[in-house]
Amino acid sequence: MVLRNGPFAAFMITLMSTSSFSPADPAISKPLKPNKSLPTSRDARALAARRLPRLIYDFIDGGAGDEIGLANNLTDLQRVRLQPRSLADVNTISLKTSFLGRDWDVPFGVAPMGMCDLAWPGTDRSLAALSQRHNLPLGVSTASSTSMEDLLRLSGGRAWFQLYVTGSTQDAMALSSRAAKAGYDTLILTVDVPRLGKRPRDVRNGFATPFRMTARHFMDFATHPHWSLKTLTSGLPTMANFSGANAMCYDRNPPRTGANWAFLQQLRAHWRGKLVVKGVLSAEDAIRIKNEGADAICVSNHGGRQLDSAPSAIAALPAIRQAVGPAYPLLFDSGIRTGDDMVKARALGADLVLVGRPFLYALAAVGEVGAERMFDCFKGEIDTALAQLGVADISAVSTSCLYRAPTEPTLR
Ligand SMILES: Cc1cc2nc3c(=O)[nH]c(=O)nc-3n(C[C@H](O)[C@H](O)[C@H](O)COP(=O)(O)O)c2cc1C
Repeated sequence: MVLRNGPFAAFMITLMSTSSFSPADPAISKPLKPNKSLPTSRDARALAARRLPRLIYDFIDGGAGDEIGLANNLTDLQRVRLQPRSLADVNTISLKTSFLGRDWDVPFGVAPMGMCDLAWPGTDRSLAALSQRHNLPLGVSTASSTSMEDLLRLSGGRAWFQLYVTGSTQDAMALSSRAAKAGYDTLILTVDVPRLGKRPRDVRNGFATPFRMTARHFMDFATHPHWSLKTLTSGLPTMANFSGANAMCYDRNPPRTGANWAFLQQLRAHWRGKLVVKGVLSAEDAIRIKNEGADAICVSNHGGRQLDSAPSAIAALPAIRQAVGPAYPLLFDSGIRTGDDMVKARALGADLVLVGRPFLYALAAVGEVGAERMFDCFKGEIDTALAQLGVADISAVSTSCLYRAPTEPTLR
């Protein structure tokens, strides 16, 4: 058993010696079955809510402000209707998608997420392995819990490195050079965190970096032993792209205002690979980003984690597609929870979508196998949706797949 991360280990040892686990905890009385199926991402979320300490679940699940923006991401997608068509030949359906000069097996990838291993130890690695197994893109966060080099290797070269300008612009440039040296061909510059969004659940729970444990956290961990013991034996996640003291005490609070237009120009001149700008909701910005030479844009409101009053990402997508033209590569994320959602995003202008929280819920819910379960779930849902729409190839999804309510019939 590996005991790492001093205060946490001390906490767990105390915990075990005082025998304060509740024997009634479902994680103890009913061990998880590794092959437990996840019928939908909502099941994964419900299970994750039970397995994870509140502090961790809220960090993953929560959003900015009153979480209206977060809710709108989901409800606006739910409101979009698709038009079923009959009698088409949908015996075989292809989900293969070309994006940024590469062929992918499915029209979705994993969004870059920091501190993923808080959901379940090894989450970053599991997602990288998934990316390799099923040929889908993997976003690797600046704040990943496994080094960018290892994740690129584990993904079989399918990972995209996501860059935050957290310190100086020189630091960010150095990080991009490191990504190039590691062999990354695609860089995602995230531009929607000039300040870290205010996430009230994190404030209430005392979720902060560097972390300081209180008695409340102690109880929270004690009542979720399934997660706590696994995390204890694996070691608390660190910021693997930073060395020394920074790896344990990375401070995510300072403004990230270095990601401005001047920096984008500098980065474009410096980075020879594909450059994606993530976190765009304005058509005007999208045109300028395209003109600055970015290869793609990710329409995203950071999963509702930054500005509560922002439009849902799906509401912003059509205008951005119209502004950049039909051929410009667009990624989309924020609120994708089903295969239907993916088809809707594609019909409204996205070439490929990224999925964030659902993968973390799945890992938290059933452990490592969760990545595969969530993947199967999404893949099956897209296949079913396309069959209903009479579309045999994902590349044929267009606005014609959207249901438009007929105008009121006139009664005579
Ligand atoms: C726990 C968590 C950590 C995240 N960390 C990052 C990050 O480090 N960099 C980034 O660009 N986006 C980050 N995001 C945002 C995601 O890339 C993505 O935009 C968002 O999760 C999509 O919304 P969804 O969760 O509704 O799918 C994070 C999201 C979550 C939930």
